[in-house]
Amino acid sequence: IYSPHLDQAFVTLATNDNYARGAMVLGKSLRNHQTTRKLVVMIGPHVSDPCKGVLLKIFDEVLLVDVLDSGDAAHLDLMKRPDLGVTFTKLHCWTLTHYSKCVFMDADTLVVQNIDELFDREELSAAPDPGWPDCFNSGVFVFRPSNETYSKLLQYCAEHGSFDGGDQGVLNGFFSNWATADISKHLPFIYNLSSIAIYTYLPAFKQYGANAKVVHFLGQTKPWSYTYDPKTKKVSGDMQETSTHPSFLLDWWFLYASSVVPMMTEGYGDQPFHSGCVEVSLEGSSTRFLPQCSSTSQEPHHTEPYVPPETSEERKQKWEQGQADYMGMDSFDNIQKKLDAFLK
Ligand SMILES: *[C@@H]1O[C@H](CO)[C@@H](O)[C@H](O)[C@H]1NC(C)=O
Ligand SMILES: *[C@@H]1O[C@H](CO)[C@@H](O)[C@H](O)[C@H]1NC(C)=O
Repeated sequence: IYSPHLDQAFVTLATNDNYARGAMVLGKSLRNHQTTRKLVVMIGPHVSDPCKGVLLKIFDEVLLVDVLDSGDAAHLDLMKRPDLGVTFTKLHCWTLTHYSKCVFMDADTLVVQNIDELFDREELSAAPDPGWPDCFNSGVFVFRPSNETYSKLLQYCAEHGSFDGGDQGVLNGFFSNWATADISKHLPFIYNLSSIAIYTYLPAFKQYGANAKVVHFLGQTKPWSYTYDPKTKKVSGDMQETSTHPSFLLDWWFLYASSVVPMMTEGYGDQPFHSGCVEVSLEGSSTRFLPQCSSTSQEPHHTEPYVPPETSEERKQKWEQGQADYMGMDSFDNIQKKLDAFLK
């Protein structure tokens, strides 16, 4: 199929298996909304092979990025600033010089409408951070890969560090005229409909929710930190602590359960389907969720609710229906219902 956009890509980054799950859902959400661009995921050395396998099914390119091993300028600069390890990894996206323009998206974002029009923007376009409007948030940004920019960024990083200890500080320092130079580089609010903001400001959600294009699951508790039961279609976990809007959290899980989980089990033949009640451990503790997607794969847990045997085709159909449901649930009319159910 002819595509005029083979030299443009959406790029994300996964440094471990949890973020890899986020990347899988993000990639699927971009595909489901018919992006015409390539999908690239940069992964760190800690992403397991089974997760890599699933990423390869969703993304056009899976790039292993290990700045510690690179022995180049990145390595030298990293030696000076060991505190900025993950930041260096993210800056690697500027080395994707076989693309002329890219949109970087954090793995904890979810696309809820086609956003290909972002490629009409120039480097560096990003959404303002409402908490600090003179700064942009580095969760979603448009950039042009360039070896020259990459080395300048590394140099900047090594010399000035980051005012917030992460990539947002480095990028705001480097692209410091963003706030004043060119207003077309300021992405509208709908590209940063942060789940926090809408949960806190329901009126704003009512006004902007239907126009949301990207949801950013900010904060400590990520979507994969919850437990989801696909039978009841309920998410559980510490909802007190959550700053995430329940309907978008559900959207994330519907997509994960309907589109990503079946890929994890493909190639496992007659093995039982273990997503009856998925369980995701919090960062740091051991991952007990979906043993198929873990390099330290132990025996699958059989403590999960028993799922009656079905052919894989039947199962697939069910999940596909689940996805149709997800599309239905996505509609604005259902949002209030979801909210009511969750806030009970
Ligand atoms: C989105 O907005 C929130 C606050 O509502 C902010 O903390 C966050 O950094 C912003 N993210 C992006 C991608 O602009
Ligand atoms: C950028 O650098 C890489 C690695 O040195 C090289 O393979 C690539 O061709 C360079 N890209 C351009 C456009 O010069």
